[in-house]
Amino acid sequence: MGVSFDKADGSLWLKFDVQPKADLTSDADRTAKLKDPGFGRVFTDHMAIVRYSADKGWHNARVESRANFPLDPATAVLHYAQEIFEGLKAYRRDDGGINLFRPDANAKRFRNSADRMAMAPVPEAVFIEAVEQLVHIDHKWIPGGEGSLYIRPFMIANEIFLGVKPSAEYIFAVIASPVGSYFKGGPAPVSIWVSENYTRAAVGGTGAVKCGGNYAASLRAQAEAIDHGCDQVVFLDAVEHRYIEELGGMNVFFVFDDGSLLTPPLGTILPGITRDSIIALAKEAGTTVREEAYSIDQWRADAASGKLKEAFACGTAAVISPIGKVCSAKGDFTINGGAAGEVAMGLRKKLVDIQYGRAADTHNWIKKVL
Ligand SMILES: Cc1ncc(COP(=O)(O)O)c(C=O)c1O
Repeated sequence: MGVSFDKADGSLWLKFDVQPKADLTSDADRTAKLKDPGFGRVFTDHMAIVRYSADKGWHNARVESRANFPLDPATAVLHYAQEIFEGLKAYRRDDGGINLFRPDANAKRFRNSADRMAMAPVPEAVFIEAVEQLVHIDHKWIPGGEGSLYIRPFMIANEIFLGVKPSAEYIFAVIASPVGSYFKGGPAPVSIWVSENYTRAAVGGTGAVKCGGNYAASLRAQAEAIDHGCDQVVFLDAVEHRYIEELGGMNVFFVFDDGSLLTPPLGTILPGITRDSIIALAKEAGTTVREEAYSIDQWRADAASGKLKEAFACGTAAVISPIGKVCSAKGDFTINGGAAGEVAMGLRKKLVDIQYGRAADTHNWIKKVL
């Protein structure tokens, strides 16, 4: 059983009890599964899991065979959705080693999410240790080439109680799923549907944190986007229904004819780690980056006048996806002739090269696991 003790600096620390799976997936089966893993349907052999109770704190830290959780039908998460998650990736370098990209930023965002959802915060060191332990034991599942291992830390309220209150028990766990190259043959521009019927987040709500409920509430709008022949939905602000917020699972950037970038300000959007990294890389290259509100009407006008050169979405899964077409009840318009733009592709290459260890990591974003 994992033992908890205090480090010299007073922070809680857990020693993970590592119990490798007895019947590991064979090399042949794993190789077959890694051929075309798609996204989120193939899983590695293990999971990391840590439990919390109000009386014991974080305890019983384990890395073990990936298995079902037995959940009583009255488990709090099943009723009141006290649940948060994260998403980050491990990349295989050309020398065979493995890089994690900014796991400290995910650990911090996870703490902020826990705070907003009145959940027990997972110490950042425990979050990172759980991720590293899992990547280490399942490193053979990381595809080569442009593939990667998508890592999904999450936490659920585990108290068996039907009262509406913060749970006194939690399960924090990490699972991992190998993913192939997101885009075969280079990033294809996406089309997006401007949702005028549904909003994602309001001031004081949960838009800035990664709780499952945000995603459940976005699915109807995403379905509406698909019904209109679009790939993704983009949300407007909840007050004036004018300002661009973000996609269902990605932040958004605009590129202007003077070379400057604009991205919606933090507040009700998820503070994306890709967004933050792009801002840093662009500023470093001398590009002006504004974090300002931008309305759908302005977007349409700037696309028509030629002032807007490109738009792109960004997030861990796809890194950068150019936006080729915008559709709405008020009519459609294209951006950059519907093609991927130079700025988006240049930033994408810069970021991907750092992630795979092909470019210098001057920001200290990479944590080598192997
Ligand atoms: C709603 C939302 N916005 C933005 C992002 C991009 O965040 P990141 O760059 O940290 O993956 C995500 C993905 O996690 C998301 O779910």
